[in-house]
Amino acid sequence: MTAAPTEDQRVVVITGAASGIGYATAELFRDAGDLVFGLDIQAKTPEGVTYVECDVADRASVDAAIEVCAQYGRIDVLANVAGIVQFGRFEQITDAEWDRVHAVDLKGPFMLMQAALPHLKACRGNIVNVSSVAGRVPQAYATAYSAAKGGLTQLTKSLALELAPDNIRVNAICPGTVDTPIVSHVASIFPDGLDPRVMDRLMMMLPGRAIAPAEIGSAIVYLASPNARMVTGSIFAFDGGMS
Ligand SMILES: NC(=O)c1ccc[n+]([C@@H]2O[C@H](COP(=O)([O-])OP(=O)(O)OC[C@H]3O[C@@H](n4cnc5c(N)ncnc54)[C@H](O)[C@@H]3O)[C@@H](O)[C@H]2O)c1
Repeated sequence: MTAAPTEDQRVVVITGAASGIGYATAELFRDAGDLVFGLDIQAKTPEGVTYVECDVADRASVDAAIEVCAQYGRIDVLANVAGIVQFGRFEQITDAEWDRVHAVDLKGPFMLMQAALPHLKACRGNIVNVSSVAGRVPQAYATAYSAAKGGLTQLTKSLALELAPDNIRVNAICPGTVDTPIVSHVASIFPDGLDPRVMDRLMMMLPGRAIAPAEIGSAIVYLASPNARMVTGSIFAFDGGMS
């Protein structure tokens, strides 16, 4: 049991908080004084963030994790950041690969949002989903991933409309190439013979560099804040002009 939140502390739930964007986001909310729960399959969340084991692709695991996070009767912010990539030729995608990327990247946020909703309603909380540039514009050799992320952007917009009467905001961020382990993973799985322009395109951003995880984190913090109280159903491109 963590210490109960003080009056001005928000309860913030972040999936994928053991690495990359989720880790940096958890640090930012923690530094702002919020009570932060970091959900992940890896117990490597930042210091001062309460780790809760959770496989976002598993309903029972999601329900159990949300029960822990909602122990004080409310969830102010849910950030769905956990995700995996799929890269390779379309002909070579296996059923298992297709199902896994959809389970983690699309069904995961669906289950988290469903489980958290009563607790978000208890305090007019809000949701920020991390989609991808591949959820807005086409991405060759990432067809299963872009289908899942495209699904997440539409899920975000449709749910924002449905929850507007409850004053629950739902937004998504679509990052370009962010400097995290996921990117080196993409580079490592690029088999010989894949169009090298795809890798070039991943770096085709305004400043000619990858985005820092905390830059995406600060956008998540903004969308979750009262300053964004008039922002909902927004699909925020944060991609250095890539799209
Ligand atoms: N890095 C990029 O360039 C980039 C670009 C666009 C979108 N994104 C999206 O940003 C999000 C975060 O990516 P990242 O780059 O920080 O990746 P990352 O690999 O650094 O972190 C992903 C985290 O999710 C966790 N995770 C994976 N599967 C999980 C599961 N089943 N249950 C719970 N946790 C799980 C991992 O353990 C890890 O801690 C993902 O949704 C990704 O698709 C990343």
